[in-house]
Amino acid sequence: MSEWTAEDGPVLRIEGLSVRFYVRKSFFSERPIAAVTDVSLDLAMGETVAVVGESGSGKTTLGRATLRLVDASDGQVVFEGEDIAGLEGAAMLSFRRRAQAIFQDPFSSLSPYMRVGDLVAEPLVIHGPSDRSEQEAAVIEALEQVKLSPAAEFADKYPHTLSGGQRQRVSIARAMVLEPDYLVADEPVSMIDASSRAEILYLLKELQAQRDLTFLYITHDLASARHFADRIAVMYAGRIVELAPAEALIEDARHPYTQALLAAVPEADPQNRLRQRPVVGGEPPDAGDLPTGCAFAPRCPAAIAGTCEREIPPLVELDGGHEVACHLYPAASASGVSSATSPSSDAADSTSSAARMKGSSDSG
Ligand SMILES: Nc1ncnc2c1ncn2[C@@H]1O[C@H](COP(=O)(O)OP(=O)(O)OP(=O)(O)O)[C@@H](O)[C@H]1O
Ligand code: SF4
Ligand SMILES: [Mg+2]
Repeated sequence: MSEWTAEDGPVLRIEGLSVRFYVRKSFFSERPIAAVTDVSLDLAMGETVAVVGESGSGKTTLGRATLRLVDASDGQVVFEGEDIAGLEGAAMLSFRRRAQAIFQDPFSSLSPYMRVGDLVAEPLVIHGPSDRSEQEAAVIEALEQVKLSPAAEFADKYPHTLSGGQRQRVSIARAMVLEPDYLVADEPVSMIDASSRAEILYLLKELQAQRDLTFLYITHDLASARHFADRIAVMYAGRIVELAPAEALIEDARHPYTQALLAAVPEADPQNRLRQRPVVGGEPPDAGDLPTGCAFAPRCPAAIAGTCEREIPPLVELDGGHEVACHLYPAASASGVSSATSPSSDAADSTSSAARMKGSSDSG
């Protein structure tokens, strides 16, 4: 564990972060892909922030940039007071230990030729104690923490003999054995069977609370984001378009895109399951050819002609840490805006979808 405390400030500060990839257009020219654009977000110690959004919205790239698995094109990521772009040598090694990740696919991320015990011990070879018996004790403790018990028995097994949920527990043990301060979990349950998903999420939440872990939880699933996160950031075309405490975002979504995402959540009531829900049509834009102005404008039912397709709306705080990037909430009149001043039809959508959301997540 590091010496960083909550009084020292946010564990992670993302400031004006942009990540562009360059793909070859022809022999002589490249095309920039704007995967993440101008994202600023602080994560306090022990806080869980969920990042939600459609496929291609930049969630994974954002998570990877905070781990320096991909470089920032602009802006910076400051981890426990240090700009991670400048880390080298021992400082970089220390960062690699303190910031860990769990990825979507527990099948490809674990070597089939290694026993569970060796898989969990592997990170210790670089970052942990050199004494073999101390390593073994750490492995057993990590396996017990992820509730693979009897731990000694599981340590002897190979990954192919385990279920998807058990394999993801091994991935979690590998991340937790180094006692990190910060964890990125990128769709950690999307590839395991539905019956194990809640258990894995509860396990992550339990470990997070025990360790005061700062947690970036990337997901498509708003219901789980609501349950497991303190705040939710909604991404669209590489930008954060809405950021709020989890409850406020679900109960009082302001951005038309968030409202559309909520409206797409299945009905909790089985009798209403086939009821047609209002989902915004169209496809997300190509990150290599983003529209000018608000990237959501071509799909937005509330778009303001003459403004939305020309000007990119800034992210402004409305109230209680609720931020939104949308011309329906101009910065000038930002303070004191309440749901009563939300665009009327969308507000109605938001209320009904929030009610459904509540039901669906309560039942799950
Ligand atoms: N290495 C890369 N090279 C080129 N483009 C990339 C690369 N990685 C991601 N992209 C592009 O950047 C954009 C954001 O991708 P990213 O994987 O971050 O989205 P995502 O929100 O995680 O999507 P998903 O929900 O499908 O996982 C997409 O347009 C994607 O095609
Ligand atoms: S800025 Fe305009 S187009 Fe974009 S979400 Fe708001 S209303 Fe819709
Ligand atoms: Mg992704």
